[in-house]
Amino acid sequence: MCRQVVVFAVFAASICGLPFPALCSADLNYKPIIGILAQENLDLEFDPHPQGSSYIPASYVKYLESAGARVIPIRINGTEEDYTKIFYQINGLLLPGGNVDLQKSQYSRVAKIFYELAIKANDALDYFPIWGTCQGFQQLTVLTSNKNLLTLTNSMAVALPLTFVPGAQNSRLFKSFPKDLLLSLSEENITSNFHIWSLSVQNYTRNSKLKRFYKVLTTNTDGKKEFISTMEAYRYPFYAVQWHPEKSPFEWINKPGMIHSISSIRASFYTASFFVSEAMKSQHHFLTPEEEEKALIYNFIPVFKGLNSIFIQYYYFD
Ligand SMILES: *[C@@H]1O[C@H](CO)[C@@H](O)[C@H](O)[C@H]1NC(C)=O
Ligand SMILES: *[C@@H]1O[C@H](CO)[C@@H](O)[C@H](O)[C@H]1NC(C)=O
Ligand SMILES: *[C@@H]1O[C@H](CO)[C@@H](O)[C@H](O)[C@H]1NC(C)=O
Repeated sequence: MCRQVVVFAVFAASICGLPFPALCSADLNYKPIIGILAQENLDLEFDPHPQGSSYIPASYVKYLESAGARVIPIRINGTEEDYTKIFYQINGLLLPGGNVDLQKSQYSRVAKIFYELAIKANDALDYFPIWGTCQGFQQLTVLTSNKNLLTLTNSMAVALPLTFVPGAQNSRLFKSFPKDLLLSLSEENITSNFHIWSLSVQNYTRNSKLKRFYKVLTTNTDGKKEFISTMEAYRYPFYAVQWHPEKSPFEWINKPGMIHSISSIRASFYTASFFVSEAMKSQHHFLTPEEEEKALIYNFIPVFKGLNSIFIQYYYFD
């Protein structure tokens, strides 16, 4: 989608010095701000001592910060009007993993508002990327198909190598990864899987909305069912991973499936760097520095939950 415009812009600029259209890589926003969506804190097994009714795992914040973005938390108590205002202040959205209902939760309500705004914006050449991790991946499949097509798989706490679909190395997401890293991703057990629900290749293939919208980049299997582990939308800057790139560098629970090898940490960084580079194509911004300052995650203090917590630090919200 951007390529033609980039070619045009470079051509136009080199010929007559015209300003670049907003979505082009030649005019990057080097101060991107990405919203991370909070979610309800309902499950006491998941978080036995919550200190707020909603939360964001701090690992997602560090993950984006390490690749050059700043973060604002998107809380789940707002109105559609609140979120529309936030949408035009931020340069991308990350839907994190977790444990809420994909059709009835506040997380799903807010994700839907942003998803629809992002579709409209991108259609109008206002570039706005979305990244979904684990539950975020699953949420995107529900938003696109308007159905929950997920199936149970045996994929909790296991590290897997990615099975690349032919040509996936040339996808937008993977094409700038170093070759040796792609090799590591395809051969080593370095992607952390912590999910029981998956989008099977079968259900994806049978659902024309999903099939038309997303290009499958990698798959995995639990031994019985083949499921999609990485995908990107054909016509929108939307990306989804069923695995957890943010865990390797930033989460420390002692469990199978947790990997801290050098290649796993490089894989984490390259996914974050890719998404942040997408956010740099967005020109949305806060109208005043005061509003920006008030919205940033630095206004909140993460809580250390101990080495046995699924998330080592949480940002809590009332
Ligand atoms: C949610 O609640 C908090 C605290 O009461 C408030 O500061 C915030 O503006 C509310 N709305 C949104 C959209 O975050
Ligand atoms: C396909 O989706 C349905 C829900 O509509 C689910 O019950 C079923 O398990 C899924 N089958 C596979 C093979 O993914
Ligand atoms: C490594 O990945 C393979 C799938 O390619 C899987 O069968 C195996 O259980 C994984 N090993 C570990 C230690 O996670």
